[in-house]
Amino acid sequence: MAETLAIVNCSQVVTLAGARHARAGGDLRQLAILEDGALLVRGEYIEAVGRRREIEKLIGGDCEVVEAGRRVVMPGFVDAHTHPVFAGIRANEFEQRASGATYREIAARGGGIRTTVRSTRNASQNDLVKIGKRYADWFLRTGTTTIEAKSGYGLTTEDELKILRAIRQLNEETPLRYVPTFLGAHDIPAEYQSRRQTYVNLIINEMLPRVAEEKLAEYCDVFCEEGAFTSDESCEILSAARCHGLGLRVHADQLSLSGGAKLAAELNCATADHLEHVDPTGIAALKAAKVQPVLLPGSVYALGSHQYPPAREMIDAGLAIVLATDFNPGSSPGPSMTMILSLACTQIKMTPAEAISASTINAAYSLGRGDELGSLERGKRADFVIHDCEDYRELAYFFGIEHPWRVYVAGELACRKPG
Ligand code: NIG
Ligand code: FE
Repeated sequence: MAETLAIVNCSQVVTLAGARHARAGGDLRQLAILEDGALLVRGEYIEAVGRRREIEKLIGGDCEVVEAGRRVVMPGFVDAHTHPVFAGIRANEFEQRASGATYREIAARGGGIRTTVRSTRNASQNDLVKIGKRYADWFLRTGTTTIEAKSGYGLTTEDELKILRAIRQLNEETPLRYVPTFLGAHDIPAEYQSRRQTYVNLIINEMLPRVAEEKLAEYCDVFCEEGAFTSDESCEILSAARCHGLGLRVHADQLSLSGGAKLAAELNCATADHLEHVDPTGIAALKAAKVQPVLLPGSVYALGSHQYPPAREMIDAGLAIVLATDFNPGSSPGPSMTMILSLACTQIKMTPAEAISASTINAAYSLGRGDELGSLERGKRADFVIHDCEDYRELAYFFGIEHPWRVYVAGELACRKPG
């Protein structure tokens, strides 16, 4: 690899340069686009971003020059909510839902998350890495360069550790960046059904100390929902996680108004995710506590629901909104962030610019990576995508296709479309 790399003749360089914090309100629409821009990369980092003529002056003899052919260059997507390590798929439950069954009915008869827990417990770490590499490739191909990755399909100490170790191995062996989250509180496993508190204690007294000791996670998440964990149980688990130095995230108000947003605000969590059923009080609480909402319209779409989260109300309230895929084998089996942009624009009436800020710079801040990822600025990691279009709005407008032409992570080509 040449030590320096220049990308020239870009129709638009969507830099997202600006204030060093997550964007809210009207700032979500400011993408800081350079028309006819160019990019200079040195090693793993961005050296300069500017007009073509300015950058061309900096190009030395040993520089590799990529002619972008009037395409759009953007930061790689940062997908701040995924469940990417699991064994088996649930196409049969998908078919049952297509025939009228609901997600909750399937879960109540022992399917849903529990189906995936059974197959994931039977898989080895190597099996999970092998399966996970296929999904890593899907993320990269669709222009995502960083994902937040949750455990949650093991639900025993050893199986949760196995998943987190698989995530660490995937981070080392694929170009994709993984930010690991411990989600031992994804469901009460069948064997603890009549002893809920025993399982909560197991998470607190055994799983969390082991996860922290092996430094296997940066965040802890809880599924706060009727049928999963109550607000009080969630509070107990998240408070213990905080004592181990983990950041906090919550699956909040997804299937009902579970009190998740309120709890996220009380605990000053980094994010409250889903929020399809949040109420105005919850939105105000998130704003007061500076919690970032992570909206997951892919799961609403794939469950065939019509209850999308109230994105406009959140933007109007001044929240630093994030968009993510929720990639998982049940409620959202889709890794494509451009599909999420399409849903955000058509179903929850965000503008393409708002959706792009929410899925790059704001997502990076929600993961504590705002100083190194999420925008194209000098000194940041050279994680960027050359999309096969001339105008960034096409990413949300033409749906169901793969837009990336070239994907770079840390200055290295991670994925390319032929041609
Ligand atoms: O975010 N809500 C809980 N967890 C996932 C679904 C996981 C599954 O169905 O396997 C979600 O939608
Ligand atoms: Fe989720």
